[in-house]
Amino acid sequence: MRIHHAELICFSPTGTTRTVLEAVARGLDAPCSSLDLTLPAGPAQGAAAGLALIGVPVHAGRVPALAAARLRAHVRGAGRPAVLVAVYGNRAFEDALLELRDLAVELGFVPVAAAAFVGEHSFSTRECPVAQGRPDGTDREQAHLFGREVRALLEGVSSLPELRPLEVPGNHPYRDGVQAAAISPETDAAACVLCGECARSCPSGAIVLRNDAVETDASLCLRCCACTRVCPAGARVMRHPRILEFGRILATQYAGRREPEFFL
Ligand SMILES: Cc1cc2nc3c(=O)[nH]c(=O)nc-3n(C[C@H](O)[C@H](O)[C@H](O)COP(=O)(O)O)c2cc1C
Repeated sequence: MRIHHAELICFSPTGTTRTVLEAVARGLDAPCSSLDLTLPAGPAQGAAAGLALIGVPVHAGRVPALAAARLRAHVRGAGRPAVLVAVYGNRAFEDALLELRDLAVELGFVPVAAAAFVGEHSFSTRECPVAQGRPDGTDREQAHLFGREVRALLEGVSSLPELRPLEVPGNHPYRDGVQAAAISPETDAAACVLCGECARSCPSGAIVLRNDAVETDASLCLRCCACTRVCPAGARVMRHPRILEFGRILATQYAGRREPEFFL
């Protein structure tokens, strides 16, 4: 089977998943279109044709609930092959790839390959770096290689039923996902320039500018920290003690470099 077209479908608040998918796509060496499900405004219509390359970050060992909801709302498989990518912050990906595979089947895809890659952790800071700078050049090379392996896998068969059903690690029932808690980054009003970048970057629409102030509905916050990354004034900061403590634990206990894993 030749890959005539690849559709990149991603949910990627801080951009690491998108970077990995783009590197995988270069290895596929096929014309690509892109469907980005990260922001609430709704995606531009995807091509809905050819091989789907679906990428999500790992949140608490699971597919983020918002990513699953957007995939269900905007994406249909219609028997197309799908390549699944989970990007995690150097701790563990646990049940995320299994959940993504099950979701792809539910949407009508035929999962043919999967991979787990490492991206800088959302809670990584200068003081407590976790997988800082990843995906790096080596990761992008690995992603390119993975794309080439997927291409070779598909070119080696004449139809999808010739492939073995895709097996990925993980357990049923899935582990508990992110627990509800009113935790979000805060805005330092003295430093804030009211540019609105934080609101525009927020996947869940939790941030609004009202009466010359930034307001956050912490009950909607994913804690993805996209707003802290885009703030040009350094005014948006995650200061919640539970997250800072977790960041310290991650930086010490998960300092050893984890490498990408492929499942073909
Ligand atoms: C709420 C939350 C939970 C997370 N849980 C995990 C986890 O269980 N394991 C892990 O290794 N990384 C975890 N991460 C880190 C992300 O998977 C990682 O930063 C990923 O690269 C983010 O992808 P993105 O840049 O596409 O948003 C978590 C991040 C957030 C915000």
